[in-house]
Amino acid sequence: MSKTQPLLQPYKNELELKNRIVMAPMTRSRANNPEKKPTDDLHGIYYEQRTSAGLIITEGSQVSEQAVGYIHTPGIYTKQQIEGWKMVTDRVHEKGGKIFIQLWHVGRISHPDFHNGQLPLAPSAINPNYKSFTPEGFKDTVTPKEMSLDEIKQTIQDFRKAAKNAVKAGFDGIEIHSSNGYLFHQFFSKCSNIRSDEYGGSIQNRTRFFFEVLEAIKSEIPEGRIGVRFNPSLHGLAGIIVDEETIPTFDFIIKKLNDYNLAYVHLSEPFTDVSNVPYAVQNIAKHYRPLYKGTLMINGSFTQDTGNAIIVRGEADLVAFGKPFVSNPDLVERFTNNWPLTDWDADTFYTTGEKGYLDYSKYSEG
Ligand SMILES: Cc1cc2nc3c(=O)[nH]c(=O)nc-3n(C[C@H](O)[C@H](O)[C@H](O)COP(=O)(O)O)c2cc1C
Repeated sequence: MSKTQPLLQPYKNELELKNRIVMAPMTRSRANNPEKKPTDDLHGIYYEQRTSAGLIITEGSQVSEQAVGYIHTPGIYTKQQIEGWKMVTDRVHEKGGKIFIQLWHVGRISHPDFHNGQLPLAPSAINPNYKSFTPEGFKDTVTPKEMSLDEIKQTIQDFRKAAKNAVKAGFDGIEIHSSNGYLFHQFFSKCSNIRSDEYGGSIQNRTRFFFEVLEAIKSEIPEGRIGVRFNPSLHGLAGIIVDEETIPTFDFIIKKLNDYNLAYVHLSEPFTDVSNVPYAVQNIAKHYRPLYKGTLMINGSFTQDTGNAIIVRGEADLVAFGKPFVSNPDLVERFTNNWPLTDWDADTFYTTGEKGYLDYSKYSEG
């Protein structure tokens, strides 16, 4: 089937993608410099190596100093960071690729060590009882500070400015990281949001912050250049628990997103087995495809075969691959030619330098 396989067919929306294979956002912790900026000799080469993807989504990139929660992650809020990203986007564009930046705020997954001893911000003062990856290694998370209304307003502006900076840096678009237990997910979930103002309580209130950020970003960048990411059945990770209102909350969000003409909605299948978790949905694409009219991207443990199959079934338009892209910079060529894949080394996912980052080679038949 090689070149006729569904994953290799172009995808037409405002983005005009050359194929349906997307590189999923992946934190790689290579911005180990005082400015927390991407560099040409690391990030530039890494993303350029992967430009045969129909679309690259960058690693999560913090929208402000307040948003940071891991060591060596790049930002998109200073001049140096914008300049660093510009070198990356230039390289990708020169090779005919497209690239979105993932805009990130970790909320309560951060640690006072990142904030001169101050508490991280979150919708409510509830400790996720998780681990934070600090400059001194993994530490227990703390009880965060409940965001004031001013802090919520400020954070909305931080996302707006980050989107503006992304345009300056030459990105084709942005993805809001509203997934995986970070700030937006903390607002959505009853286990992390017990606010009694207009940002807590009802589903409408718990999703208000997300839609306000989306509206603010829209003032800087067209809707067709905005993607959003969710992991509806995330359970037992980052302190998030599925409850009876979880799926109705995501149903509400996804249905409301039909009112926008977004680049895509990016969903992850559950990261863990949720077959015994009450109220969780096991098959996310199947559940959400009928609810969403626009471009649907799916992610989570897909292979060449299952990726092709889900497009044929009509449950998704695009498939995002994470770990396979770490160790196969030429993943698209490998799928095209049915070449075998190289395994990834999880030990070098988050280490600094070139090892496990730039040294995975293209497939050679010889
Ligand atoms: C090393 C690594 C870093 C990741 N960092 C991010 C991130 O910054 N943002 C995000 O939304 N997901 C992140 N993820 C999740 C991936 O985007 C993806 O959802 C996950 O790897 C499952 O897809 P896969 O089975 O194709 O790898 C990361 C995953 C890995 C393995």
